[in-house]
Amino acid sequence: MVLHVNTSEAGYDIILERGSLERVSEYFNLNRKVLIITDSGVPMEYALTVQRQCKEAYIHVLDAGEQSKSIDNYIKALQVLVDMGMTRTDCVVAVGGGVVGDFSGFVASTYMRGIDFYNIPTTFLSQVDSSIGGKVAIDFMGVKNIVGAFYQPKGVLIDSNTLKTLDKRQLHAGLCESIKMSATSNKELFELIENSTSIDNDLDEIIEKSLIIKRDVVEKDPKEKGLRRVLNFGHTIGHGIESKYGLKGYLHGECVGMGMLPMCESSVKQRIKALLNKYQIPTDIDLANEDIMDYIKKDKKASGNQITIVYVEKIGTFELKKIEIEEIQKYIKRGL
Ligand SMILES: NC(=O)c1ccc[n+]([C@@H]2O[C@H](COP(=O)([O-])OP(=O)(O)OC[C@H]3O[C@@H](n4cnc5c(N)ncnc54)[C@H](O)[C@@H]3O)[C@@H](O)[C@H]2O)c1
Repeated sequence: MVLHVNTSEAGYDIILERGSLERVSEYFNLNRKVLIITDSGVPMEYALTVQRQCKEAYIHVLDAGEQSKSIDNYIKALQVLVDMGMTRTDCVVAVGGGVVGDFSGFVASTYMRGIDFYNIPTTFLSQVDSSIGGKVAIDFMGVKNIVGAFYQPKGVLIDSNTLKTLDKRQLHAGLCESIKMSATSNKELFELIENSTSIDNDLDEIIEKSLIIKRDVVEKDPKEKGLRRVLNFGHTIGHGIESKYGLKGYLHGECVGMGMLPMCESSVKQRIKALLNKYQIPTDIDLANEDIMDYIKKDKKASGNQITIVYVEKIGTFELKKIEIEEIQKYIKRGL
């Protein structure tokens, strides 16, 4: 399947096809110098498969993990681009999860004021969420994604066969992003995930339906001025949990999963909770913990004392509410 994403420029295609990694040169222009960026946790065979299809390619490997989205690594990648003699007509290809995609996109966006960037996401989270929408970034001074840009890829290629090597916990954490999108925007997708008896068999349909939701949102609101906030369902409290427990605690998707629970009507909450339990996402942390609230107050999305939250009254619908930050505590307590 090919899904086109319209942008202010030419837009780009997302190729969703099992086995397409072997045919990436049919979709991307690799007949030039290519810097392939991957990380140490991604099976090397994926980057090598891409390299075999390029005219001239170098593979740059980051250490796996969020800490690799750093200024130091950014400088090292720029040095590689200069050493390779890369020009404005060459390109960067990301092969990995959201860390590799965010990092590589940011490198591509700034080298020579922007060179072509292709993304081959290999985690569930990056396949349904981070690879589209054009947000690219690195972290700085302990703050996630604080240095970044909106920079659209030239193309995205999703081969769900790559998920066969992905850890189940990572897969399920990524699934929380699909649960999030379906809870606000697509009742049928929510029910598909609810009724699925084998997530592996339903992967392609879930990825496709999630991508359509995200595509429709980012096309209407490319720079997060309004509607795109719907994608933050679960994220306000989720970020608070992530900040409290740090990198050694829960995965991002797991935090988003738990963060959705206070932000919905009670029957919706029961259904989301049942889904989180079905996919072994923890739901038993103390959301009323004051540290979590302190982190929420520091959240970059808070403007003054007010914050926009996404609230779900009925599966498949949402409401954006502007509330006082202190009120979040009420939502949390009411949801317990
Ligand atoms: N740009 C956006 O719109 C956006 C949206 C959501 C999240 N993000 C970012 O995405 C990042 C998280 O991404 P993630 O959840 O994909 O994590 P990740 O990139 O850290 O990948 C998780 C782990 O899986 C490994 N891995 C990747 N693909 C694999 C495969 N096919 N088989 C085996 N192992 C594999 C990686 O090496 C890593 O250890 C965060 O930095 C977050 O800020 C960006």
